[in-house]
Amino acid sequence: MPRDYAARLVSNERLTEDVADLRFELAGQPKTAGTEPRALPEPGREQALHTLFNHNPLTLRPGQFAHLAAPGVFLRRPISIAGFDPAANLVRFIIRLVGEGTRNLAMLKPGGTTKILLPLGNPFPLDSSGDIWLVGGGLGVAPLLYLAKTLSGTVRGLRSFLGFGDERSVFGAQEMNELSEMTLDIGGFITDRVTGALTSKRPDVIFSCGPKPMMGALKKICAARRVPLYVSLEERMGCGVGACLVCSCAVHGTAGYRRVCRDGPVFGAEEVVLS
Ligand SMILES: Cc1cc2nc3c(=O)[nH]c(=O)nc-3n(C[C@H](O)[C@H](O)[C@H](O)COP(=O)(O)OP(=O)(O)OC[C@H]3O[C@@H](n4cnc5c(N)ncnc54)[C@H](O)[C@@H]3O)c2cc1C
Ligand code: FES
Repeated sequence: MPRDYAARLVSNERLTEDVADLRFELAGQPKTAGTEPRALPEPGREQALHTLFNHNPLTLRPGQFAHLAAPGVFLRRPISIAGFDPAANLVRFIIRLVGEGTRNLAMLKPGGTTKILLPLGNPFPLDSSGDIWLVGGGLGVAPLLYLAKTLSGTVRGLRSFLGFGDERSVFGAQEMNELSEMTLDIGGFITDRVTGALTSKRPDVIFSCGPKPMMGALKKICAARRVPLYVSLEERMGCGVGACLVCSCAVHGTAGYRRVCRDGPVFGAEEVVLS
């Protein structure tokens, strides 16, 4: 069940000119969605309340996202979980500054507070412990960092393919390289690298997040080789919890449309229309 947490910014680091790495500490006492912000108690008391009342420890799975209240804008902004430290109740978001909401979030200083509704959406299905490949383009690398951290050392083989438009937009590559066997492509098509790698090896599953054309190309590559592919989609969102239909995406078959926030954001690639 998603809960609305009061959250305190712990660190705010620039990874590139327009990408920020924000880590928030979630206050232990959960709030109900839609209510006003409350003052955060002192850290010691918060921890005691958390231990006392939170019988179900928070679980955040790779692929899930959160709805962040951004100062100065009305609607919340959906952002993928890029990391989670349950012991410290610390959630990580990697955010590209594209408009007012994301810019205002990135202007928060450590100690600043906001509200975060999470966990939202369905995660990547982690039912294979074999050879797993991750394919990320641009900001799509953010959720894959958490996925790589979760899978690293627990599966037979973990490879990652990261694509960025230019040198200045690269982030997370060093971290990904420590977690997996990484291929980095700058300025080309990361899907070409995947095609090349598939000539000598076939993974059990590929997980991907990035621009739709990239995932569309990957879908064709995987379909031709019968490699299962899961993609994480992005659509503009309103409510974030399945009520407003703003985030609908086209799917094959009679269903027509599905909600990215509630039915996704992770879908089997064969289900969704990616072109
Ligand atoms: C499930 C999900 C996970 C996401 N994860 C991340 C993440 O980890 N890091 C990150 O930086 N961004 C992520 N996004 C995109 C992020 O939500 C938007 O960039 C953000 O809401 C823009 O808000 P804004 O006020 O800054 O810009 P706005 O002023 O609202 O918009 C600026 C520009 O961004 C475009 N845009 C806005 N929202 C979206 C959207 N949802 N999808 C595609 N384009 C959009 C607008 O069309 C416009 O061109 C995610 C989106 C979804 C749906
Ligand atoms: S954002 Fe409202 S249904 Fe998905």
